[in-house]
Formats: sequence, C-alpha cells, structure tokens
Amino acid sequence: MMTIIPKIAVIGGGSTYTPEFVDGFIVHRDEVRVEEIALHDINPERLEIVGGLVERMVRHAGLPTRVVRTTDRTVALSGAAFVVSQIRVGGMAARIRDEKIPLAHGVVGQETTGPGGTLKAWRTIPVVLDIARDVERLAPDAWFINFTNPSGIITETLLKHTSLRAVGLCNNPINFTRLVANLFGVPDEAVFLEWMGLNHVNWVRRVYVQGRDVSADLMAKIRQGIPFYPFDADLVEALGVFPTWYLQYYYYPDRKVAEMRAATRTRGEVVAEVEQDLLRKYADPSLVVKPPELSQRGGALYSEAAVRLILSLVLDRRDVQVVDVRNGGAIPDLPADGVVEVPCVVGAHGIIPLRMGPLPETIRSLCQVVKAWETWTVEAGVTGSRRAALMAMVTNPLVRSADLARMLLEEMLEANREYLPQFF
Ligand code: G6P
Repeated sequence: MMTIIPKIAVIGGGSTYTPEFVDGFIVHRDEVRVEEIALHDINPERLEIVGGLVERMVRHAGLPTRVVRTTDRTVALSGAAFVVSQIRVGGMAARIRDEKIPLAHGVVGQETTGPGGTLKAWRTIPVVLDIARDVERLAPDAWFINFTNPSGIITETLLKHTSLRAVGLCNNPINFTRLVANLFGVPDEAVFLEWMGLNHVNWVRRVYVQGRDVSADLMAKIRQGIPFYPFDADLVEALGVFPTWYLQYYYYPDRKVAEMRAATRTRGEVVAEVEQDLLRKYADPSLVVKPPELSQRGGALYSEAAVRLILSLVLDRRDVQVVDVRNGGAIPDLPADGVVEVPCVVGAHGIIPLRMGPLPETIRSLCQVVKAWETWTVEAGVTGSRRAALMAMVTNPLVRSADLARMLLEEMLEANREYLPQFF
C-alpha cells in the first residue's frame, strides 16, 4: 500500500547532502510518496543549484513530488509532517577553524569531538532553538529529525529546551551494520547490534547475525585485521566490546594528533574542495541522478537512515533502529534526561528506547565523562554561562588541563564571536 507524506521540510536544503536524502525516497518510491519537499536555505545560490538537481532527480524518476525552494522559513515549515535539520552554522570556514585551533595546541581538531565539537555546538544552539520556535508555531506535530552535528548534543538541547518531537540521527550505526554484513556475507537486515553509548561515542556489546551471537567470530576477524577498522585487537579484547569509529579520537589521541599534523590539509579543507566539485556537477543540467562522487563524504548512506526512520514512523513498522533519544532509563548509569544512542522501537506510537542495562565497566567511565562534557556543552550553549563553558572544556577528555581549557576557550570563543550571541 502506498503511504502519502504531505510535506517534508529540509532546513539546510542547500547542503550537498540533499540529493542523498531525496534519493532515499526515489529508491523507496513503491512504499511512500512525498507530495512536497520544501528546501530551505539561507544561501540562495546553493539553494538554486542543489534544488535544481533535486527537481531534475524527481522528474527523472517520474515522481509527482513538488520541490519548493525557499529562503523563507515560514513557507518551508508551514504544515510539514517532517522537518529535517542539516545546517552548518558558519559554514566550512568555521569547521576548518574548529580543526586548526585545537591542533595548534596539540589537541585533536575534529568537527564533532573535543573543542571543535564544543564550538560547533555553541554556534548551532542559538540557531537551532530559533528554528525550533518556528516549528513549534508552524508545524507543532511534526517530527524533527536532526542530522546537524554534533547530533547527540543538538538533539539533547531540543529535547531539554523545546516541546518538539525531536530525534537525532547518524549514519554510523548503518555503516557499522553494513561492515558486519559484508564481513559475514549477509544482507543488512540479518544483522543486529547491541549498540550502546552516545552519538559518536559508541560501542557494540554483542553482534548477532541471523540471531546467532557472532561476537567471537568478529573478534577473530579483527585479530586478522579488518580494513578501515582502526582499533588494535588487544584493546578490543580488553574492552570486551567493539568500539566504533569515532572512539579512535579518545583511545588514540596522540596518534590522531600526529596524523592530523602530518596531513597537508584538514578534513574540512578536503571537504570544502569536494563540495565545490559537487556543486559544479550539480549545476550541470544534464545531471539527473545523485552523482557517485557524493560517496566521498563521510555521511554516505545517511538517506538510508533517514528514510528508514520516516517509513517506520508513518507505516507503524515497530522495527528496531539505532537513533538518538532521551535516555529515560535505557542506560541507567547515564542521566535520565540526557540523550543516548541506542536501539529503539520505531512506529506510529513514536520512538521507545530498549533498556540496554548498565554499561560494561570497561567503558563506563569514558562514556560518563563524555556525557558530562555534553551536558555542560548544552548548558553553556543555551545560557552563555562562562562557568559552564569552562566546565565543558575542562571536562572533555581530550583537553582535561585547566590551563589548556582556558586558553582554548578564550581563543575559540573569540574566533567564533559573530556566531555566539549567547556569549557576547
Ligand atoms: C560521518 C559522521 C557524520 C559526519 C560525517 C562527516 O558520517 O557520522 O556525523 O557528518 O562523517 O563527513 P565529512 O565528509 O563531512 O567529513
């Protein structure tokens, strides 16, 4: 049966990721039809280019979907059933500063982790709260799907400080699922992961393939070496659970700093170039499908995560998906009102996290300290409290030193002054 979604609003619709999102609805065209996709952006040129490609993709696929491009948030949000947020306040230039300033002090410079993630959150929070006020007014029943990084922190801000039905999403769980599926030669659906932790701070306690616990087999494969899996077998064995991608910054900060220093360009600088390339391609009127170059971005497969979530909400599938939600008691050793990333049952009723139980002691302290950083980051980002800001910096496991925290704080607040009304 075909399900109709009247309207999806994409805030940050000029993002080069947008064709990825829309492609998801083209792939799943037999299950769901979207009557209107409203792309909103503050940058009219990007909106024109990206919106143009989206329009051609939809027409090429023969879908009746109306594609609206607008710089007016009221037009975009009014009557939306889903609001997808994928904004980058300050653009790539700000990301590059988030990478370079910490690195100059010998600290990991990364867009979602450490001081870089902290500042990205603080730039984003005032804007996202402003958007949220509009959603509360114009589409109060909409699901607000947050892709904006740092996804867990932004989702926590929304759940603590607005009345939105907000949920955070990340493509990492799907990427890890696919990694396991490929290793065991099965489709994604055959894999179940006991995923626990926070966004970009997560471990997999047990791995199942077709209901069989294959954790020991996966461990054996890691001992032999898995391409792109960055953790040493002895560490994984000691932990007794499988760390996922972003934990490399916490387990190997020295290696990561050395790698970053050796690189001629930061990831942001690389991505800025990939984006320019993508935009040039998008502007070509003969392009009518998502170009393969898009897979060079870390967010590949994100359409899968987004479309699966939306379909389960509207089709009442009640399947299990890993998303970012209010903890409640899902992980009892983390604050109940904080956001966690865990498997959840998703259906027309909403999103209910599975009770994963206590964190294994090998990972508990790291997860708790990163959660404390997130909590201070939300508080500082909302209130502009310098005390909370210093606590966020000094609590972050990649900083720790109070002298360093103070220095980074002053320098990074100053560098981001124009985006931080709450602090200045
Ligand atoms: C991964 C993360 C996303 C992040 C992306 C960065 O997919 O899960 O949160 O946005 O990588 O990719 P980029 O191409 O911008 O470095």
